Amino acid sequence: MAPFKDYIVLAALTLLPTLSAQNTTWDHSLYASSPPVYPSPPTTGQGWEAAYAQADAFVKNLTLEEKAGVLTGVAQGPCIGNIAPIPRIGFPGLCLQDGPASIRQATFATVFPAGLTAAASWDKGLIYERGLYLGAEFRGKGAHIALAPVCGPLGRSGLAGRGWEGFSPDPYLTGVAMELTISGIQKNGVQAVAKHWIGNEQETQRNPSVSDNGTTIEAVSSNIDDRTMHELYMWPFANSVRAGVASIMCSYNRLNGSYACQNSKALNGLLKDELGFQGYVMSDWGAVHAGVDSVQAGLDMNMPGPLGFFVSEPSFWGPNLTLAINNGSLAEERLDDMVRRVMLPYFHFGQNVDFPPIDPESADLNILGVTPLLDTFTYGPANVDVRDDHAKLVRDLAAAGTVLLKNTNNALPLKAPKNMGVFGNDAGDPTNGLYTLKFVGEQNYEYGTLAVGGGSGTGRLTYVVTPLDALKVRTQQDGTLLQYLLNNTLISSDPTIAFYSIAPSPPEVCLVFLKTWASEGADLTSLEADWNSTAVVENVAGYCNNTIVVTHTGGPNTMPWANHPNVTAIVAAHFPGQESGNSIVDILYGNVNPSGKLPYTIANTEADYAFAGITNSTELQQTEDPNAWQSDFTEGLLIEYRHFDYYNQSVLFEFGFGLSYTNFSLSDLSVSKIGNGTISASPPQAAIAPGGNPTLYDALFRATATVSNTGSVAGAAVSQLYLSLPQIPGEGITPLKVLRGFEKTSLEPGQSAQVSFDLMRRDISHWDTIAQEWMISSGNIGVQLGFSSRDIILTDSFSAL
Ligand code: NOJ
Repeated sequence: MAPFKDYIVLAALTLLPTLSAQNTTWDHSLYASSPPVYPSPPTTGQGWEAAYAQADAFVKNLTLEEKAGVLTGVAQGPCIGNIAPIPRIGFPGLCLQDGPASIRQATFATVFPAGLTAAASWDKGLIYERGLYLGAEFRGKGAHIALAPVCGPLGRSGLAGRGWEGFSPDPYLTGVAMELTISGIQKNGVQAVAKHWIGNEQETQRNPSVSDNGTTIEAVSSNIDDRTMHELYMWPFANSVRAGVASIMCSYNRLNGSYACQNSKALNGLLKDELGFQGYVMSDWGAVHAGVDSVQAGLDMNMPGPLGFFVSEPSFWGPNLTLAINNGSLAEERLDDMVRRVMLPYFHFGQNVDFPPIDPESADLNILGVTPLLDTFTYGPANVDVRDDHAKLVRDLAAAGTVLLKNTNNALPLKAPKNMGVFGNDAGDPTNGLYTLKFVGEQNYEYGTLAVGGGSGTGRLTYVVTPLDALKVRTQQDGTLLQYLLNNTLISSDPTIAFYSIAPSPPEVCLVFLKTWASEGADLTSLEADWNSTAVVENVAGYCNNTIVVTHTGGPNTMPWANHPNVTAIVAAHFPGQESGNSIVDILYGNVNPSGKLPYTIANTEADYAFAGITNSTELQQTEDPNAWQSDFTEGLLIEYRHFDYYNQSVLFEFGFGLSYTNFSLSDLSVSKIGNGTISASPPQAAIAPGGNPTLYDALFRATATVSNTGSVAGAAVSQLYLSLPQIPGEGITPLKVLRGFEKTSLEPGQSAQVSFDLMRRDISHWDTIAQEWMISSGNIGVQLGFSSRDIILTDSFSAL
């Protein structure tokens, strides 16, 4: 089937009523039952007051054509998204660049650890710093707008091709990471874009396709009930809006039957009305399927502008917007609001006063086909080096986001081994280039360590320190004999021949490096690591009784070999970025004590994840029904650890789990109310501010405890606070526990520190679908503090009302 071929407008539909049980058969006729939300709420510039007057004056100075130009991208610019300059008034245009782990379309830029890796660090300081440095690099390249960070996909399915671009399937952890990253990026005067709004949980059929008979088959529809929408998928976007994010990118998929970029309930209703979003909604590239309808539904900027991306093709917007105003089908006031929304962050961040010129190399690297430089853009020198000393953060954060899962007999840290073997095609240099944009095709990357995934979230490596590079350097210190075999085919098929070259045999320690390709444009077909990974591990472990497995992956993997007695240690290193080898060597040798924790669950088998898979089947692939692709989120709130906990299922490594080379304890948990006033069930009435009703973020309770390092080496503990909120009759299943606080504390041996967790109103509420409000229920709220979702050490409870 061919994507991007045709576009059909569907009516704007809205959210479904809450479902109460798993495996409920969804009534698809319900989609048409909810009213559309119009008109699009105008921005008041709240939070950006000083900029409002400037944005308003800017609008008043524009012709109708110029207004349409500020809202519609042009393909012939240097960036992945371009708003054309207006020389008449000295407006330099806008340069939009990917992505969440690096400024992708650039040379001499840093490739940072992926969002998932950052989340696995659970380190608020490092996550913020990553955002700060990303912002500095976008700025240095003249990119006004960073198409980052990502919280959709959230991670309903571990098979999602883009799960690694964002942070964690847990909305609380992701919400915190979004806030910190956005604050960091925007601190450098670069506009951040929270993407993709919303329900973008799979790559498969994310866009419409054309069937064999020529019928347009619409994109997959993520069908999400109201409570799940609020408590899971919207949650981190609410944090983003509260953090003052400049823009939100709407997604390719349909939401409850209607394309996300023209879904008035999602854009006008949830985002602009309920969350009080003051900036602009931009479309994902080619996600616009209508002109006036998308404008009325709340979309403010059309990217990349022309249909099908290329300059020769027309746009639903551009001249069609002026036509719509002139023939009366669109009010000019809506157009003015759109321009104000686009210009508010530009003025707020002073991008009109002081902003570096665009690096013209970006145009040469532009993937959108023929894109001659539009000479009205302002260019500076080419190939500016914006990396500064960011490599240090990359190395530290990737080590901090590395999770030690198994460590039998203190296999790690390594102690000057005499003889080491390194195995696996992920250990050495990539042989097919350092740039992994390719949307599909793990087959193209047999050899080489995987530092980052593919697609628009990738980065152009200036170098990559491979695990083998770093081990070669490190082993010299101890005079270790280092031998390696990087051919997975050989190791998995003919171990006798493979291991023949190694002597003395077997090595004292064997390191196996595995990888799992993940990219935009395709979902994973298996959760097992690639390239015969299981046979590779089993054969190495069959020969070497001290086998340590390191994985480079963009999400959960199954590990069928995890309990093999010769697999003495397992380390999940995620997508670490350019310093990969240095970061893993820091962990393996104990220069850095592992402190990463899983931001997802590793289940026993792939079948255990079946509760929320990728919607796909042979029937769907061959369908002639335009509306056939429906992905019903029937599991509701029960994704990830919430599912495994509710169904009391054992897992291999639970959410929040990760070992250290030291030990920690927790004591003295106490929970107290903040302030003396009585607490109402519903939030006090207050004017909506960015993020929604501001009282949702009032801290109402504080939990405190003492965390201590009881071991013999320095290390960092991640104290995790989970709440057990009451079941709400008629409102679906409430998970048994949800993360509502975490703190990472570095401690010397014998040292203790206090940790505290402020519980905000939203943290202790549920979304009431009847009242259409966040409500605190009268029941008891359980408090569980521990070092993972299943390592609960202290408990308490309180009643909020
Ligand atoms: C499509 C991707 O979904 C989006 O994340 C990206 O920013 C744009 N392409 C531009 O590359």
